[in-house]
Amino acid sequence: MGDPIYLDNNATTPIHPWVVAAIEPYLHGHPGNPSSSHAPGLEAAAAVAAARGEVADLLGCHPDEVVFTGGGSEADNLALKGVAWAHRHRGRHLVVSAVEHPAVLETARFLAREGWDITVVGVDRTGRVQPEAVTAALRDDTVLVSVMHSNNETGTINPIAEIATAAHARGALVHTDAAQSTGKVPIRVDDLGVDLLTVAGHKLHAPKGIGALFVRRGVILEPVIHGAGHEGGRRAGTENVPWIVGLGAACALAASEGLDAYATRVRPLRDRLHELLAAAIPGLVLNGHPEHRLPNTLNVSVPGVLGRRILEACPEVAASTGSACHEGDDVVSGVLGAMGVPPEVAHGALRLTLGLLTTAEEIEVAGAALVRAVAQVRAAARVR
Ligand SMILES: Cc1ncc(COP(=O)(O)O)c(C=O)c1O
Repeated sequence: MGDPIYLDNNATTPIHPWVVAAIEPYLHGHPGNPSSSHAPGLEAAAAVAAARGEVADLLGCHPDEVVFTGGGSEADNLALKGVAWAHRHRGRHLVVSAVEHPAVLETARFLAREGWDITVVGVDRTGRVQPEAVTAALRDDTVLVSVMHSNNETGTINPIAEIATAAHARGALVHTDAAQSTGKVPIRVDDLGVDLLTVAGHKLHAPKGIGALFVRRGVILEPVIHGAGHEGGRRAGTENVPWIVGLGAACALAASEGLDAYATRVRPLRDRLHELLAAAIPGLVLNGHPEHRLPNTLNVSVPGVLGRRILEACPEVAASTGSACHEGDDVVSGVLGAMGVPPEVAHGALRLTLGLLTTAEEIEVAGAALVRAVAQVRAAARVR
């Protein structure tokens, strides 16, 4: 058997050939440090500046509002800790949602150990955070609200603009973790009205280990990594030039054709996969919002069967049962639990996520293989 069909793009995406081509010259040559004033240094600085412009163009912000980080987790840490540490005189209260990635939830828990009060807002049955729930959680001493743009397990998209309006009305700053959304759906910081926004390169066909935090002009942050004055004094460390170039290229690709491709090609393929599974698997349940959902994400449950067993019986497909970070056990996903999905349904969850490189043929083959695997696992359960 060849390589399995890759349907785990929310865990990570393959680096797009276009991005590889942009990075390659910076692996073979261009050795300069962007802080150096000789020609190779200036060349490296120009490459970083160009990439910053490409990220800014995709987000609709100023280049100086983009802080490069070592990935989505670091961007989330910088948003929460950076704001909390710089604004502690204003209050000691943070609001997060129950379905945030651990990069936000664990950072909030860390801040709780430092004496911050954390309110965790729940979600509805589709995984959406309701703006009214955020409004109810806000206090006079709320410093920051952090609600993800879309969820990594279900793809459910949150009403961030309404949440931001509610939070700003009470004087709180707003962060959104858009790690899963950037490059898949339009993300414009002014439309969302957010003050901080997380980007993770490896979710949009750039390498792992590079990300960015949008920090609106005027928002003060305490750095998490102290040192020299890189990134406008917000994140010390010599810039990872090749990976920054890669993130810039991935953002340029998203802006030029990727967003269109997700809307017009990937979404129909995702829906075709759903159709193939729903037609052949009685009782299949969709987890997540039917419409307000990332175009590449299909999270479905086969009730009464462990999702893990289905994937074990389906070596033709590389997918996931929940978020990659929680895998390897039969504990119900925290996200599905927060949505109120009953345990016997949540245990049967499969997260099937497509990318720009997924083909129509792969979807047909993967659909058939998954249907076969479900039948096999159900038959084995009946025998026992
Ligand atoms: C929603 C979300 N936030 C943050 C992260 C963390 O990003 P990274 O893996 O680049 O640290 C991920 C990746 O799994 C994610 O899905």
